Amino acid sequence: MRYRMLGGSDLRVSEICLGSWLTYGGGVSRAQAEACVSRAFDLGVNFIDTANVYSGGAAERFLGEVLRGRPRDSYVLATKLFFPMPDGGRGLSAQQVRTQLDASLKRLGVDHVDLYQCHRWDSEVPVAETVGALDEAVRQGKVRWLGFSEWNPGHIRAALALPGARFVSSQPQYSMLHRDWEREVFPLCAREGIGQIVWSPLAQGILTGKYRAGEAPPAGSRAASQAMGTFIHSRLTPENLARVERLRPVAAELGLSLAQLALAWVLRRPEVTSAIIGATRPEQVEENARASGVILPPEALERIERALA
Ligand SMILES: NC(=O)c1ccc[n+]([C@@H]2O[C@H](COP(=O)([O-])OP(=O)(O)OC[C@H]3O[C@@H](n4cnc5c(N)ncnc54)[C@H](OP(=O)(O)O)[C@@H]3O)[C@@H](O)[C@H]2O)c1
Repeated sequence: MRYRMLGGSDLRVSEICLGSWLTYGGGVSRAQAEACVSRAFDLGVNFIDTANVYSGGAAERFLGEVLRGRPRDSYVLATKLFFPMPDGGRGLSAQQVRTQLDASLKRLGVDHVDLYQCHRWDSEVPVAETVGALDEAVRQGKVRWLGFSEWNPGHIRAALALPGARFVSSQPQYSMLHRDWEREVFPLCAREGIGQIVWSPLAQGILTGKYRAGEAPPAGSRAASQAMGTFIHSRLTPENLARVERLRPVAAELGLSLAQLALAWVLRRPEVTSAIIGATRPEQVEENARASGVILPPEALERIERALA
């Protein structure tokens, strides 16, 4: 496993980060979830991403239980707030920052998180109020560094103008099938010492090649899952499936799986610090972890551009 420094922080994180949306504390069995986390650590993954809202708090509770036996300085722990919680709490007000952070720390069983991320922009709360409360959490030692997810350039500039804005990470959706953030957010963040930690780098599994046009989703896949399949169907378009078919020979000729090709492709960008994967089985963690360190030659990158066009 290779590691990269996260923006201007002192956090050295693995190129592959293990995420927990839909999966842990959710649609994946306890035994499989534990096996995934354990395999990730064995392979050198030291970066774990979660959020208060994932499975209504159950993802954080699960992680708290499985991380308990590990030295706190052996992993970098990231969580988030914004989306509505089962108790109705939502948004980025100062009161929510205090309440949700304390609740996350309790579920995670830790006294601090390394990265606390605003899961979205809150247009109902002045950003100065949010940043003030986040800064207070940093000074209390509950949070080390700050991040945001899916903020546009205007949001980013407004937040960075404030005192105490210790932002070092941006968490956008970024994959071969979703590139909106490359043009403006990547360069702006690079100038500001903010790294990209990208979500759904496999487009929820579509880029692994498991879904084929005209065929039902394979058993055991996200698209076939009642519990985890809600968000993938709008991405399973004929155009995307055709792109994946055109990528198959590129991966095969490089001796890579499609998943490894997709992960090496997001990691080709120096602005990307880590690819946040989901995994339902330890074998997936293993396959994905092997993408770290793969350098795609220029000819392959050109073929990929043509395949995605
Ligand atoms: N900030 C945000 O708003 C936001 C939003 C979404 C996600 N996230 C973060 O990003 C993380 C990753 O999101 P994601 O789960 O959508 O990522 P993803 O890596 O694009 O997709 C993960 C899913 O693909 C399948 N998969 C993974 N590796 C595979 C392999 N080698 N072979 C075959 N199938 C494989 C698995 O599903 P099946 O086995 O079930 O098919 C797995 O659960 C989340 O856990 C979360 O931490 C953040």
